[in-house]
Amino acid sequence: MARRASGPIWVTGASSGIGRALALKLARQGRVVAASARSLHDLAGLADDARLVGGVVRVYPLDVADRGAVAATARQIVADLGPIECAVFAAGTHLPVEIDGFDADIFRRLVEVNFMGVVHGLEAVLPAMIAARAGHIAIVSSVAGYRGLPTAAAYGATKAALINMAEALKLDCDRAGIKLQLIDPGFVRTPLTDKNPFPMPFLIEADLAADRIIAGLVSRRFEITFPKRFTWQVKLLRMLPYPLYFWLVRKATGR
Ligand SMILES: NC(=O)c1ccc[n+]([C@@H]2O[C@H](COP(=O)([O-])OP(=O)(O)OC[C@H]3O[C@@H](n4cnc5c(N)ncnc54)[C@H](OP(=O)(O)O)[C@@H]3O)[C@@H](O)[C@H]2O)c1
Repeated sequence: MARRASGPIWVTGASSGIGRALALKLARQGRVVAASARSLHDLAGLADDARLVGGVVRVYPLDVADRGAVAATARQIVADLGPIECAVFAAGTHLPVEIDGFDADIFRRLVEVNFMGVVHGLEAVLPAMIAARAGHIAIVSSVAGYRGLPTAAAYGATKAALINMAEALKLDCDRAGIKLQLIDPGFVRTPLTDKNPFPMPFLIEADLAADRIIAGLVSRRFEITFPKRFTWQVKLLRMLPYPLYFWLVRKATGR
């Protein structure tokens, strides 16, 4: 990953939660961070905090659902800071789905932000990385993409799409000399999960999530998932037959 002498790390979703904690830690470690999200105010706060610890965070506000804005931002980062060495696509949001009041707009919004937002980022960084035969991309999905969970019909679908897409791209990225990784966190305390009305097992703090991500980014693992004591249990759920799976989910959620 980039230190000040080399290329920048672009973190989307950097104004809050996991992306913010990650950007701040990377900056504290001497990495040059290009931070994106919609809220300029929150990004400016991050840049101030980075300065206090001797780090450099440059802010690039954008809406990841806007394809042109994502492409223009990538070009601006390269112009300001040099070729993007690593891109961590963490921007995402959650909206619950109930069958009463089922609304296609919720799905459209989450697909635009969580899924197309990453696709826009890939489109923006891949050509230069392919040309350089170098680069590093990490896509933030979720264990919610492993299997369908109540109220997560839209969120989980976008995260499952990201997992599938990353798997599909992995070997071609390898051949192109680009390191592609998938980040699948369990529950992390952030403004996103603060809205959850249910108990979240093995909830961890965003700071610890950022530590786990940084350790994963320097590893050769394709998937970075944490906390392991929770995410391995969710992985096991993937193997269960439907009757047993639904029985367990009903028991756990009271649905
Ligand atoms: N927290 C968890 O338990 C958990 C678990 C698994 C995966 N994740 C994933 O981790 C990522 C970060 O989530 P978080 O928990 O840290 O949530 P968060 O605190 O709500 O942060 C979400 C970030 O995404 C940005 N964002 C949202 N919509 C955007 C848009 N249209 N364009 C650009 N940026 C946008 C937000 O900034 P603005 O609002 O300023 O745009 C914010 O910086 C998400 O992809 C989430 O799905 C979280």
